[in-house]
Amino acid sequence: MLLHVPDVLSATELAQAERILDAATWQDGRRTAGEQAVIAKNNQQLDERSAPCRRLQALVLAAIERNTTLFSATLAREISPPLFNRYAGANNTFGNHVDSAIRYVPATGARVRTDISCTLFLRDPSSYDGGELVIEDTFGHRRVKLPAGHLVVYPGTSVHRVEPVTRGERIACFFWVQSMVRSDEQRRLLFDMDNHLRHLRSTLGETDPGVVGLTGTYHNLLRQWMEL
Ligand code: NI
Repeated sequence: MLLHVPDVLSATELAQAERILDAATWQDGRRTAGEQAVIAKNNQQLDERSAPCRRLQALVLAAIERNTTLFSATLAREISPPLFNRYAGANNTFGNHVDSAIRYVPATGARVRTDISCTLFLRDPSSYDGGELVIEDTFGHRRVKLPAGHLVVYPGTSVHRVEPVTRGERIACFFWVQSMVRSDEQRRLLFDMDNHLRHLRSTLGETDPGVVGLTGTYHNLLRQWMEL
Protein backbone atom coordinates (compact mmCIF):
# COMPACT_ATOMS: atom_id res chain seq x y z
CA MET A 1 0.00 0.00 0.00
CA LEU A 2 1.21 3.46 -0.91
CA LEU A 3 -0.36 6.16 1.25
CA HIS A 4 0.01 9.93 1.41
CA VAL A 5 -0.43 11.20 5.00
CA PRO A 6 -0.86 15.00 4.98
CA ASP A 7 0.19 17.47 7.69
CA VAL A 8 2.24 15.14 9.88
CA LEU A 9 4.22 18.19 11.00
CA SER A 10 2.50 21.49 11.83
CA ALA A 11 3.73 24.83 10.47
CA THR A 12 5.26 25.55 13.91
CA GLU A 13 7.13 22.23 13.90
CA LEU A 14 8.36 22.81 10.36
CA ALA A 15 9.74 26.20 11.39
CA GLN A 16 11.39 24.57 14.42
CA ALA A 17 12.91 21.88 12.17
CA GLU A 18 14.18 24.57 9.84
CA ARG A 19 16.00 26.32 12.71
CA ILE A 20 17.60 23.07 13.84
CA LEU A 21 18.67 22.25 10.26
CA ASP A 22 20.37 25.65 9.97
CA ALA A 23 22.85 24.55 12.66
CA ALA A 24 23.37 21.05 11.24
CA THR A 25 26.39 19.73 9.36
CA TRP A 26 25.93 17.13 6.67
CA GLN A 27 28.06 14.09 5.90
CA ASP A 28 28.33 11.55 3.09
CA GLY A 29 25.15 9.45 2.94
CA ARG A 30 27.06 6.34 1.85
CA ARG A 31 28.15 5.77 5.45
CA THR A 32 24.86 4.09 6.24
CA ALA A 33 24.11 2.34 2.95
CA GLY A 34 24.15 -1.42 2.37
CA GLU A 35 26.44 -3.05 -0.24
CA GLN A 36 24.09 -2.63 -3.17
CA ALA A 37 22.71 0.75 -2.14
CA VAL A 38 26.20 2.24 -1.67
CA ILE A 39 26.73 2.14 -5.43
CA ALA A 40 23.45 3.92 -6.14
CA LYS A 41 23.50 6.37 -3.23
CA ASN A 42 24.82 9.89 -3.70
CA ASN A 43 23.36 12.21 -1.09
CA GLN A 44 24.17 13.66 2.31
CA GLN A 45 22.93 12.68 5.72
CA LEU A 46 22.91 14.08 9.25
CA ASP A 47 25.21 12.32 11.72
CA GLU A 48 22.73 10.44 13.91
CA ARG A 49 24.84 11.01 17.00
CA SER A 50 24.82 14.79 16.56
CA ALA A 51 22.69 17.08 18.72
CA PRO A 52 20.70 18.56 15.78
CA CYS A 53 19.81 15.05 14.60
CA ARG A 54 18.67 14.02 18.09
CA ARG A 55 16.47 17.11 18.39
CA LEU A 56 14.93 16.49 14.99
CA GLN A 57 14.34 12.83 15.83
CA ALA A 58 12.43 13.81 18.98
CA LEU A 59 10.33 16.29 17.04
CA VAL A 60 9.44 13.76 14.32
CA LEU A 61 8.77 10.88 16.75
CA ALA A 62 6.34 13.03 18.77
CA ALA A 63 4.48 13.89 15.56
CA ILE A 64 4.38 10.24 14.46
CA GLU A 65 3.06 9.06 17.80
CA ARG A 66 0.05 11.37 17.78
CA ASN A 67 -0.91 10.60 14.16
CA THR A 68 -3.81 8.13 14.21
CA THR A 69 -3.90 7.68 10.41
CA LEU A 70 -0.25 6.69 10.42
CA PHE A 71 -0.81 4.21 13.23
CA SER A 72 -3.86 2.71 11.52
CA ALA A 73 -1.92 2.32 8.25
CA THR A 74 1.29 0.91 9.72
CA LEU A 75 0.20 -0.85 12.95
CA ALA A 76 3.71 -0.08 14.14
CA ARG A 77 5.50 -2.37 16.53
CA GLU A 78 8.96 -0.79 16.16
CA ILE A 79 10.09 2.40 14.46
CA SER A 80 13.72 2.86 13.43
CA PRO A 81 15.25 6.17 14.57
CA PRO A 82 14.34 8.78 11.93
CA LEU A 83 17.26 9.86 9.72
CA PHE A 84 17.63 13.01 7.65
CA ASN A 85 19.04 13.45 4.18
CA ARG A 86 19.81 16.20 1.74
CA TYR A 87 20.01 16.09 -2.04
CA ALA A 88 21.72 19.12 -3.58
CA GLY A 89 24.65 20.15 -5.79
CA ALA A 90 26.89 17.21 -6.71
CA ASN A 91 25.26 14.88 -4.13
CA ASN A 92 21.83 14.91 -5.64
CA THR A 93 20.47 11.44 -6.41
CA PHE A 94 19.85 7.88 -5.21
CA GLY A 95 19.43 5.28 -7.98
CA ASN A 96 17.16 2.23 -7.96
CA HIS A 97 17.55 0.03 -4.88
CA VAL A 98 15.69 -2.01 -2.29
CA ASP A 99 16.23 -1.12 1.36
CA SER A 100 17.94 -3.68 3.61
CA ALA A 101 15.49 -6.02 5.36
CA ILE A 102 16.88 -5.20 8.80
CA ARG A 103 17.96 -1.95 10.42
CA TYR A 104 20.10 -1.97 13.52
CA VAL A 105 19.42 0.73 16.08
CA PRO A 106 22.95 1.88 17.00
CA ALA A 107 22.06 3.12 20.49
CA THR A 108 20.41 -0.10 21.67
CA GLY A 109 21.51 -2.80 19.21
CA ALA A 110 17.82 -3.54 18.59
CA ARG A 111 16.71 -4.80 15.18
CA VAL A 112 13.85 -3.41 13.13
CA ARG A 113 12.42 -5.45 10.22
CA THR A 114 11.76 -2.92 7.47
CA ASP A 115 8.18 -3.87 6.53
CA ILE A 116 7.29 -0.27 5.71
CA SER A 117 9.35 2.67 4.45
CA CYS A 118 8.34 6.24 5.28
CA THR A 119 9.57 9.52 3.81
CA LEU A 120 8.60 12.79 5.43
CA PHE A 121 9.21 15.77 3.14
CA LEU A 122 10.69 18.85 4.83
CA ARG A 123 11.01 21.36 1.98
CA ASP A 124 8.48 23.25 -0.11
CA PRO A 125 8.39 21.35 -3.46
CA SER A 126 8.50 24.63 -5.42
CA SER A 127 11.91 25.42 -3.86
CA TYR A 128 13.70 22.62 -5.77
CA ASP A 129 13.52 20.85 -9.14
CA GLY A 130 13.62 17.06 -9.43
CA GLY A 131 13.98 14.98 -6.28
CA GLU A 132 10.84 12.90 -6.86
CA LEU A 133 10.72 9.63 -4.94
CA VAL A 134 9.90 7.07 -7.63
CA ILE A 135 8.39 3.83 -6.33
CA GLU A 136 7.97 0.82 -8.59
CA ASP A 137 4.66 -0.82 -7.93
CA THR A 138 2.78 -3.73 -9.48
CA PHE A 139 0.72 -1.18 -11.40
CA GLY A 140 3.61 0.97 -12.63
CA HIS A 141 5.79 3.75 -11.32
CA ARG A 142 4.52 6.23 -8.75
CA ARG A 143 6.28 9.60 -8.58
CA VAL A 144 6.00 11.24 -5.17
CA LYS A 145 6.93 14.83 -4.29
CA LEU A 146 4.89 16.13 -1.38
CA PRO A 147 4.43 19.45 0.43
CA ALA A 148 6.64 20.08 3.48
CA GLY A 149 5.32 18.21 6.52
CA HIS A 150 3.56 15.51 4.46
CA LEU A 151 4.61 11.87 4.54
CA VAL A 152 4.46 8.89 2.19
CA VAL A 153 4.15 5.30 3.41
CA TYR A 154 5.20 2.54 0.99
CA PRO A 155 6.12 -1.15 1.23
CA GLY A 156 9.72 -1.85 2.27
CA THR A 157 9.82 -4.52 -0.44
CA SER A 158 9.59 -2.09 -3.36
CA VAL A 159 12.35 -0.93 -5.69
CA HIS A 160 12.63 2.86 -5.44
CA ARG A 161 14.89 5.81 -6.25
CA VAL A 162 15.23 9.54 -5.81
CA GLU A 163 15.51 11.50 -9.06
CA PRO A 164 18.41 13.97 -9.40
CA VAL A 165 17.80 17.38 -7.82
CA THR A 166 18.74 19.94 -10.47
CA ARG A 167 17.91 23.15 -8.55
CA GLY A 168 17.74 23.99 -4.85
CA GLU A 169 17.89 21.33 -2.15
CA ARG A 170 15.61 18.52 -1.13
CA ILE A 171 15.65 17.75 2.59
CA ALA A 172 13.64 14.86 3.96
CA CYS A 173 13.32 12.58 6.93
CA PHE A 174 13.08 8.81 6.45
CA PHE A 175 12.52 5.85 8.71
CA TRP A 176 11.26 2.28 8.70
CA VAL A 177 8.47 0.57 10.55
CA GLN A 178 8.25 -3.01 11.71
CA SER A 179 4.54 -3.71 11.71
CA MET A 180 2.56 -5.96 14.04
CA VAL A 181 1.05 -7.25 10.78
CA ARG A 182 3.79 -8.39 8.42
CA SER A 183 1.70 -8.77 5.26
CA ASP A 184 1.10 -5.62 3.23
CA GLU A 185 -2.17 -7.11 1.95
CA GLN A 186 -3.51 -7.80 5.44
CA ARG A 187 -2.47 -4.34 6.66
CA ARG A 188 -4.31 -2.83 3.70
CA LEU A 189 -7.51 -4.73 4.56
CA LEU A 190 -7.32 -3.63 8.20
CA PHE A 191 -6.64 -0.02 7.23
CA ASP A 192 -9.63 0.03 4.86
CA MET A 193 -11.86 -1.56 7.48
CA ASP A 194 -10.75 0.92 10.13
CA ASN A 195 -11.58 3.83 7.79
CA HIS A 196 -15.03 2.45 6.98
CA LEU A 197 -15.65 1.87 10.68
CA ARG A 198 -14.71 5.46 11.49
CA HIS A 199 -17.28 6.61 8.94
CA LEU A 200 -19.96 4.30 10.36
CA ARG A 201 -19.23 5.47 13.91
CA SER A 202 -19.70 9.10 12.91
CA THR A 203 -23.00 8.42 11.09
CA LEU A 204 -24.56 5.63 13.21
CA GLY A 205 -22.96 6.30 16.60
CA GLU A 206 -20.74 4.17 18.83
CA THR A 207 -23.59 2.05 20.22
CA ASP A 208 -25.13 0.89 16.94
CA PRO A 209 -25.11 -2.95 17.07
CA GLY A 210 -23.55 -3.19 13.59
CA VAL A 211 -20.77 -0.80 14.61
CA VAL A 212 -20.10 -2.75 17.81
CA GLY A 213 -20.06 -6.05 15.90
CA LEU A 214 -17.78 -4.85 13.10
CA THR A 215 -15.39 -3.24 15.59
CA GLY A 216 -15.17 -6.68 17.18
CA THR A 217 -14.48 -8.24 13.78
CA TYR A 218 -11.66 -5.71 13.19
CA HIS A 219 -10.00 -6.64 16.48
CA ASN A 220 -10.54 -10.35 15.91
CA LEU A 221 -8.81 -10.11 12.52
CA LEU A 222 -5.98 -8.14 14.12
CA ARG A 223 -5.70 -10.84 16.82
CA GLN A 224 -5.42 -13.49 14.06
CA TRP A 225 -2.79 -11.66 12.06
CA MET A 226 -0.63 -9.71 14.47
CA GLU A 227 2.65 -10.79 15.98
CA LEU A 228 4.05 -9.15 19.07
NI1 NI B 1 15.73 3.48 0.07
